Amino acid sequence: MSNETAKMSLGGKDYEFPVLKATTGPDVIDIRKLYAQTNNFTLDPGFTSTASCESNLTFIDGGEGVLLHGGYPIGQLAEHSSFMETSYLLLNGTLPSKNELKEFKTTITNHTMLHEQLAKFFSGFRRDAHPMAIMCGVVGALSAFYHDSTDINDPEHRRISSHRLIAKMPTIAAMAYKYSIGQPFVYPDNTLSYPGNFLRMTFGVPAEEYEVDPVIERAMDRIFILHADHEQNASTSTVRLAGSSGANPFACIAAGIACLWGPAHGGANEAALNMLREIGTVDRIPEYIARAKDKNDPFRLMGFGHRVYKNYDPRATVMQKTADEVLSKLGVTDPIFDVARELEQIALNDPYFVEKKLYPNVDFYSGIILSAIGFPTEMFTVLFALARTVGWVAQWNEMISDPGQKIGRPRQLYTGPAQRDYIPIDKR
Ligand code: ACO
Repeated sequence: MSNETAKMSLGGKDYEFPVLKATTGPDVIDIRKLYAQTNNFTLDPGFTSTASCESNLTFIDGGEGVLLHGGYPIGQLAEHSSFMETSYLLLNGTLPSKNELKEFKTTITNHTMLHEQLAKFFSGFRRDAHPMAIMCGVVGALSAFYHDSTDINDPEHRRISSHRLIAKMPTIAAMAYKYSIGQPFVYPDNTLSYPGNFLRMTFGVPAEEYEVDPVIERAMDRIFILHADHEQNASTSTVRLAGSSGANPFACIAAGIACLWGPAHGGANEAALNMLREIGTVDRIPEYIARAKDKNDPFRLMGFGHRVYKNYDPRATVMQKTADEVLSKLGVTDPIFDVARELEQIALNDPYFVEKKLYPNVDFYSGIILSAIGFPTEMFTVLFALARTVGWVAQWNEMISDPGQKIGRPRQLYTGPAQRDYIPIDKR
């Protein structure tokens, strides 16, 4: 708290509102008493200037292209940490000691299996269902299976359901994939790492041994780290809003998955790869750049632009390097990688993109990597949801633990008709 205040004049009266200090980044004007004092609301569709909560988990400086978890830069975490360690950091606010990490990994590993009855739930879906539709349904259904951890006011219940969600997401994601291709589900192998186990459940079959490729395992882990949390984005805000009513964590995460599905958010990596495939060859890039700039054409360069980053998305830098590593390890020479690189160069030098500060985001290269590993495009957003689950549960926990937490209830600027009398149908 600082002594600084923001002064406002309205209807001939002066008001003062406290300014709350951020550790780093913009301070905020606390307008919680604005309505009570002035009888006015504020209007901010899309929350472009509104902080919806106080949080100490993740910080983004969009202008500088900085992303920190618990103060640690994402590039350092992607290089030196693991997804399990980053998850611990997000859930606890500090990096773990060796023992703490070991214990955390054991706990998560102990929760990887699903209730056997849940496996039957999958057969209710069409085989060609989008795996995100399956994820929404199955994750929501977890609340019908784990009653022993849905008391949100009990910190121990919150801890167990957080661990369950982080542990079971890879199992559910792999099952959604196996179901779509008609192969049997592969049970978790708890001797493997978090990403290694996921790769085996996804690409292994019961008839053969599956050997985890360490380069792919590391790439997968890095992709999970890059997607772990991103402060108050649309899906995280959805989870917080759903959770603010006291809904159980499984239902809240299902709500987050639904929000993430959209092409402006998590669905963008699928859309970016589809776009690169549609462009196909380098010579067709100018045509698509022209379309992206044409106001009468709804086409946008997918994987470009970000609400917060007005600079290179720091995750995109790591993603590009990982794409290089994976493609060379797998010996894949995918022409769309050339299209992506050339498109990036052209856009970065085009005045339209420069002026609007449109840079590649995390999704621009992730689709290329995931496709090279063997994931079909429909699975891309599922992988995002799997990794973001830790951010969602960390943010949800932070909100529920906050004594000042209130149900999320935005206001509106009403522009409809004022009160009028009902007109019987024969008089209209
Ligand atoms: N291609 C072409 N023009 C674009 C693009 C793009 N990808 N992104 C934004 N613009 C233009 C808009 O047309 C607008 O132009 P105008 O000011 O002349 O009207 C201007 O840039 C600002 O765009 P907004 O949509 O107002 O910016 P906003 O912050 O609301 O949107 C968003 C951000 C949704 C990410 C947008 O850049 C976009 O649609 N990008 C493509 C989809 C994408 O890659 N999403 C992934 C986001 S990252 C994530 O979720 C993990």
